Amino acid sequence: MAIPAGDQERADALRELLHHHAHQYYVLDAPSIPDAEYDKLFRELQALEEKYPELLTPDSPTQRVGGAILEGFAKVRHQVAMLSIRTETDIEASGAQNFDLRVRRELGLKEGDPPVEYVAELKFDGLAMNLRYEDGRLVQAATRGDGEIGEDVTQNIRTVGQVPLKLHGKDIPPVLEVRGEVYMRRDDFEKLNELQREKIARGAKNEKTFVNPRNAAAGAVRQLDPAIARQRPLSFYAYGWGQIEGGPTFETHYELLQALKAWGLPVSERTVLANGADDLIAYHQAVGRDRDGLPFDIDGVVYKVNSLALQKQLGFVTREPRWAVAHKFPAQEQLTTVEAIDIYVGRTGKLTPVARLQPVFVGGVTVTNATLHNEDEARRKDVRVGDTVIVRRAGDVIPEVVSVVAEKRVPGAAQFTMPHTCPVCGSAAVREEGEADYRCTGGLFCGAQRKQAILHFAQRRALDVEGLGEKLVDQMVEAGVIRTLPDLYRLGLANLVALERMGEKSAQNLLAGLEQSKSTTLPRFLYGLGIRHVGESTARDLARHFGKLDAIMEAGVERLLEVPDVGPIVAESVHAFFQQPHNVEVIEQLRACGVHWEESEPVAQAPKPLTGKTVVLTGTLPTLSRDEAKEMLEAAGAKVAGSVSKKTDYVVAGAEAGSKLEKAQALGVAVLDEEGLRKLLAGAA
Ligand code: IVH
Repeated sequence: MAIPAGDQERADALRELLHHHAHQYYVLDAPSIPDAEYDKLFRELQALEEKYPELLTPDSPTQRVGGAILEGFAKVRHQVAMLSIRTETDIEASGAQNFDLRVRRELGLKEGDPPVEYVAELKFDGLAMNLRYEDGRLVQAATRGDGEIGEDVTQNIRTVGQVPLKLHGKDIPPVLEVRGEVYMRRDDFEKLNELQREKIARGAKNEKTFVNPRNAAAGAVRQLDPAIARQRPLSFYAYGWGQIEGGPTFETHYELLQALKAWGLPVSERTVLANGADDLIAYHQAVGRDRDGLPFDIDGVVYKVNSLALQKQLGFVTREPRWAVAHKFPAQEQLTTVEAIDIYVGRTGKLTPVARLQPVFVGGVTVTNATLHNEDEARRKDVRVGDTVIVRRAGDVIPEVVSVVAEKRVPGAAQFTMPHTCPVCGSAAVREEGEADYRCTGGLFCGAQRKQAILHFAQRRALDVEGLGEKLVDQMVEAGVIRTLPDLYRLGLANLVALERMGEKSAQNLLAGLEQSKSTTLPRFLYGLGIRHVGESTARDLARHFGKLDAIMEAGVERLLEVPDVGPIVAESVHAFFQQPHNVEVIEQLRACGVHWEESEPVAQAPKPLTGKTVVLTGTLPTLSRDEAKEMLEAAGAKVAGSVSKKTDYVVAGAEAGSKLEKAQALGVAVLDEEGLRKLLAGAA
């Protein structure tokens, strides 16, 4: 059949495009389009090649299963090819039905025949991994690579806590290849990126944030430096197997998974048996509902025929099994455009750039805003008004702009610059050295901070003012009815009823709520003031230690440092707060309005446990930043020094610790890792 010129050109263009995006994704770890978009292009090419087989070239992206093979790792030829699975294109419940119908047809089942038994699993959004165990010991971990040849990443995978280095239990096959997914939990991903942002803020070169947990996991797995890989927390779930020699025989997929579990491999609790299409549909719906609450990303569910005999009978089409299918959920990443970049001002005056987006349906909800975090991030991603961007929303995490599609930039789009004044009150906004954020210096003069400060003060864990919500506070601050915290207690019925949409009944309820809130406790009051770095537990410690508010207000940094868990940053912040005359005034007025609590005698505290100890920090710790470690040590009374000497009591060493570690070893100074540090602090507490 002659190939129409248009189709020939389209196929060439698609191949080019897919090669480009695959390179961005696999080699540069910097995806340029969302997965769903890639899939769409991929399927278009696949369809063209199926229609005109002459179009097919050996180097077509459709001819390889996974990503490119990186230089730098030894190659591993898989004993059993690592295949992929077909994706059910119908996202609705009918996707499960379609699969069941296909399976039944292939198996020659009639309408009245019993339902087929399936296993339903989560489709983890990470990287496929082959773990080879010989005589129960992990001897090799390999990526999928192109399905035939993968990369030997054993060193990096050995650091994944959930991958057993040695199996336990009975009847372990002498050769057992376990297949599963290496992934990164969302909380680990957030922590890692927070750490990366801090490093960048401190001026670290060659550091970047990761676009999503899968990308971070891929980066960690293929990290050539195992010391760095170790700092990237990964997790693992088993869902299949490759070569198996010896050991018991199994009749079903489910039995085999149970055996893997018994031998010590993690198998998801959400891997279940399912009877026929109805169960698959119910599973798809239940998992869809729970998706946001899971601690990790999934991009769908997977259905597999349970009987291994039936699997064999069904066999494969090209490189995909007929007995399994992936049924996807709405993508967690989408393309949209940036309509504006606004600045959000938080309670502590922190300025956050936020991209206002053309509304887009991502991960099951419509998203209109996405955070750009801070100046460095916005600059590094180089997001500009008018840009086409990839937006990600997963779980309860705030939607974020992952990256810009450079090809789609409109000419003349201006680079984003962080304002040096607060957009709400016009006060100067400053960024202190070593800090990632700009802050408005307007304090309670700033309307945005005022609103947030009032909400913070009124919240349940602080003064607990019933009936005072965000909308009402916005309204009252904007109408000028309240400017400062004490104004809350000066509200009268007349002020309130004059507000829009405020009835007499709700006004009275609010007044009653305010009246009730006056009787409080010192920790609640302290916390409610919104002093930077003073959370609930620090407020409690301060209250216990000093007993009386006046004593806290008068305390110098030295005395504040005596409070357990209070380090120099917190002490400085508390001291600075009470030095401000307007803060003292607010407190006086609140008391004059009748806010009260019971004061007590100071509780004598044991001296700080690490008082007199000198500690040196060196290298990068797996989870704590240097500042965090320093603050924790100082809060426990230790002195943190810059160089190692005979007087040093401990050296806390992380990855890439250099000469300081050597010196400590030479001098016989105790060396701790992060865990040791935590133990020291815990034992000391
Ligand atoms: S089974 C022959 N089960 O999805 C069947 N895959 O193409 C091989 N994945 O890259 C795959 N969760 O890494 C299977 N429960 C699950 C899975 C799963 C995630 C990934 C796998 C592969 C892709 C399927």
